Amino acid sequence: MQAEPEGFDRVLSSMCTEPHPSARDAAERFLATNPGDPGTYPTVADLEDRAVELLGELASLDDPSGYVASGGTEANIQAVRIARERARARGIDSPTVVLPESAHFSFRKAADLLDVSLTVVPTDAGHRVRLDAVRDAVDEETALVVGVAGSTEYGRVDPIPALGAIAHDYGALFHVDAAWGGFVLPFTDREWHFGHAPVDSMTIDPHKMGRAAIPAGGLLVRDDSLLDELAVDTPYLETTSQATLSGTRSGAGVASAVAAIETLWPDGYAAQYERSQENAEWLAARLSDLGYDVVDPTLPLVAADVPANTFEGLRDEGWRISRTASGELRVVCMPHVTRDKLAAFVDDLAAVGPRTPNAVADDD
Ligand SMILES: Cc1ncc(COP(=O)(O)O)c(C=O)c1O
Repeated sequence: MQAEPEGFDRVLSSMCTEPHPSARDAAERFLATNPGDPGTYPTVADLEDRAVELLGELASLDDPSGYVASGGTEANIQAVRIARERARARGIDSPTVVLPESAHFSFRKAADLLDVSLTVVPTDAGHRVRLDAVRDAVDEETALVVGVAGSTEYGRVDPIPALGAIAHDYGALFHVDAAWGGFVLPFTDREWHFGHAPVDSMTIDPHKMGRAAIPAGGLLVRDDSLLDELAVDTPYLETTSQATLSGTRSGAGVASAVAAIETLWPDGYAAQYERSQENAEWLAARLSDLGYDVVDPTLPLVAADVPANTFEGLRDEGWRISRTASGELRVVCMPHVTRDKLAAFVDDLAAVGPRTPNAVADDD
């Protein structure tokens, strides 16, 4: 096999990044271990406990439970599964999940797999969920309310404490998807965390802003008993039950998550956040100077209304960029996205132009 992976030079829209060197090293060492079988691989099983403890520290949750999942998708699916089981125990036959339109598409997979229905509520002009719409949507059948803390398309954070209160008023669980945002939120002036918002479960992925190797997602639950909803008996293993979705799992992901977090938490992540946020604000200002409509980056993610042919022109230049559902260019200022790269991108954008959507219309 001669193939080599692409470098990160022109990657501007990925939610993953280059692993930290300590994470890369740990991943290599633990490549052939399986935290799904703690009786055979006790060291990596202990590392997973450590990963959960560290993720709890990031999310300000004492004594957390959870595990290192394959990614945010698995963690979200499992959160829905927990809520469905709890709802069934309350006699709810057709459980629903109330979630913002900004929620990641993994919830659609969860709904499909778990036979729950989704009630999707709109976001406001600032791309945050509308609380009045959530209040209207929640009812006795609601198993789970979802809030997003760092949305995939705009990097926005929903009003977490208020959402939690609505969920609990109806006896539903409350899940926060901080798959991408979880490693930057501790350094922002957010007004909530697990410690003072009624969050029951959270997705927080080391393999995104945490700089772990893929696969390393994270599921945290406030109360140990929530994981019991997922547990199945494991007759041929030395341990008696398993709450994870996959059986054999990546020890490389687990070990690299611990290595990255132990190296970077908190100061390294704080510096990384400052750089990423400054880059996002710099890019937003440049795009605005060029005449594009820009969605303000509240977290290090910039969306801008760049016409389709300009977008294609930039892809032709080798920029690996993607768009929101409404067609805006989205640039995720991950740690590998340096100011120099952004400056080269802005130069190409200015050269590829056109500057306004009208100019595109004229060309058509
Ligand atoms: C907010 C959010 N949740 C969940 C996911 C899914 O994570 P994964 O791709 O690791 O399964 C993503 C992916 O970008 C995300 O941005």
